[in-house]
Order: sequence, then structure tokens, then C-alpha cells
Amino acid sequence: MYCTRQITPTITWVGGNDRRLARFENLFPVERGVSYNSYLIVDKKTALMDTTDSAISRQFMDNILHTLDGRPLDYLVVNHMEPDHCAGIEELMLRFPQMQLVGNAKTMTLIQQFYDMPLDGRTVVVKEGDTLPLGQHTLQFFFAPMVHWPEVMVTYEQTEKVLFSADAFGGFGALSGNIFDDEVGFTRDWLDDYRRYYANIVGKYGMQVQATLKKLSGLDIQFICPLHGLIWRTNLQMLLEKYDLWSRYEPEEQTVTLFYGSMYGDTENAAEILATKLADAGIRNIAMYDVSGTDVSVLIAEVFRCSHVVLAAPTYNNGIYPPMLGLLHDMQALSVQSRTIALMENGSWAPTSAKNMRALIDGMKNMTVLEPVVSVRSAPKEQSLTTINAMCDAILESLKKN
Ligand code: FEO
Repeated sequence: MYCTRQITPTITWVGGNDRRLARFENLFPVERGVSYNSYLIVDKKTALMDTTDSAISRQFMDNILHTLDGRPLDYLVVNHMEPDHCAGIEELMLRFPQMQLVGNAKTMTLIQQFYDMPLDGRTVVVKEGDTLPLGQHTLQFFFAPMVHWPEVMVTYEQTEKVLFSADAFGGFGALSGNIFDDEVGFTRDWLDDYRRYYANIVGKYGMQVQATLKKLSGLDIQFICPLHGLIWRTNLQMLLEKYDLWSRYEPEEQTVTLFYGSMYGDTENAAEILATKLADAGIRNIAMYDVSGTDVSVLIAEVFRCSHVVLAAPTYNNGIYPPMLGLLHDMQALSVQSRTIALMENGSWAPTSAKNMRALIDGMKNMTVLEPVVSVRSAPKEQSLTTINAMCDAILESLKKN
């Protein structure tokens, strides 16, 4: 049975939600599910903006057929060719034999890589800035390469001033009837999952996001319609500002997040002593995570939020405790930069984890590593407090400068 909402009288949300998916991309936990958004414009010509994941294909097709109300589908605009958005192409090609696929040259290459359907006479290949009139509406195409795939483009509808933004400005979390940003408590209920989505899906491509924001800055945008998450019609500026910060790798808050690995609780103890001293000194919104028990996608999102990061890890096989090594590799892979780092290590006979963590951080851009390093032998003792106090002072001093 169809289940749709109107974005405007002529543009309909025809997407759906998946609350059964455990991990997005079989990688990122999505306890609140995920939405796959698609939008249908009904004008003299009809145009669908992307399809959905196959998990919701029955719902999606019901929504399209209801909204078309017996009319044919003239165009399918393919802004992004990742399978969570392109799984419906083949069925639509078969159901609507006159339908044209609209995309760029790279889109068409990817379609042929994923599918075996013949495209002869079925494609409209667009270039940067090209327009496609539908009647009252006109679509204009802007390329957004590597946000986060090479073929990605965004489509701007000139009359109602709607940006169909592909994965950009999306977030994790299924929609619960309320599909608009002004229908939910975004900061309370959604921001953490938006930051986690940005950091993990798009975070590596800050430069490309900046280029796209610049390209779109001249457009009058009244709606942002992404492929996941909420539709933006009220607080667009807030979202744009978050994207600007995140893509410049600037922290949202001057505060400290502590990540610890701890086999028997002693490294955790050292990290907690430091966190308590920072709190006594007036630092607020401190966060603390056990790297062994927290998904790395959550940890990375916190790195994007916080200006200062404490890494506390035991020495393991003469190297870094594996879950902490995983976090550092993810930070490298996602081009994390411009953070202030403090290092704590533990080792009962030959502590080396601080040296090894520093070597990885040195390979990242614009990172500051504070002195001193806290080096614990087995368990924090009275003399460890001197170094932890000195580390606390160094973090406070650095926070004052920012
Ligand atoms: Fe939501 Fe890049 O796919």
C-alpha cells in the first residue's frame, strides 16, 4: 500500500524506510534504521529523482504508481549510482518502456557495470549546468564528484527552488512519519547520527564537499532533499553551517573526548583520573569511550565534534592495542586533521604504544601532540598523578588558546 508525503503540491516523497537493516553498507550499525528517499515531480513531463535500495522495492513501486495515477514516467534522474539508490532502475525501465535515464557519462558507465540492461536510445547524458524542462519545472544539473562517488551529481529544480542533493546532507535514522526538519527535535534526536553519517560516509572528502558548497552558494535553495534522512525546509542554514565546519575539519566544540583501551581497568583508571581533573577545571561536555566496546563509526564522529582527543592504550604485542589501532587507521583513512592529541600508554615491561600512536598521528595533517605523554607501568600510582596533572594543564592551556 502506498505511503507518501507531499514536499510541495507537485513534488512527492515516494521513498521508504528500512528498520530491519543491522548495518548500513554492512558496516555501520543503524539501530534507528535508515530511509531511502526518492522524489517524484509531476508536471507536463514526470521525473523521478533516484530510486531506492531493493529492501524497500515493493513499497517504493506502490508509491510511484499511486503518485503517477496512471500517467507514464518520462525521466529517471540518477544522481548517484550506489546500489542503495539504484536498485529500482531495471524494473522502472521495464515498466515504462519510453522512460529516459538522465545522468552523466560516468553514471552510464556505472549502470553498465552493475546491470546488463540495454541502454540504447534510453539515455539523456547531461553535462555540468545543463537544464531539462518538465513544464512548470526545470531541472539543472551540477556535478559533485567524490561526494562521495565519482559520478555523483545534484539536481536543482529552478521553479520551486529544490536541491536534490544525493547523499550530501543525509543522515542515518528511519523517518517516523515526520519527514521534515521542522517536525523533529533535530539537535536532541538526530544531530549525533548526522555527524556519524557525515564523518563515515563523506568525511574523507572535505575538499570536494567544500568545492560543492561553493558551487551551490549562488543558488536560492528553499528545500534540500537528500537520499537519506530528513527533508530540509526550515533550518537549512544550520545544516549548511555544520557541513562547512565538518568539511573544513574544524571541531564543533572546544572540549575533550577520551578514547581508552583497557584490558584490566588500569588504563581506564588513568583516563578517568584525567577526565575528572579536566571536569574539576571547568571543562564541559567531556566524552569518554571504551574503544573495545564502541563501534569505530561512533568514535570517529566524536573526533569530528571535539577539538581535543586523548588516546589511552595498552601496549600489545609490542605495538598498539588492536581496537585503538583500528581507530587510528580509520582516522588516517578519513583524512582527520587539525586536532590536538594527548597520549597515554600502559605497559608492564616495555611500554611502546605512545611512540607507535604518535608515529601514526604524525602522518595526519595539522595535528598537535601535547607533552607530556603519560606512561603507566601496569597501574597508575602516586607518581603517575604528577604526569596526569601535567597533561591536564597542557590540555587546559591549549583549550585557552583556541
Ligand atoms: Fe546512500 Fe552513496 O549511497
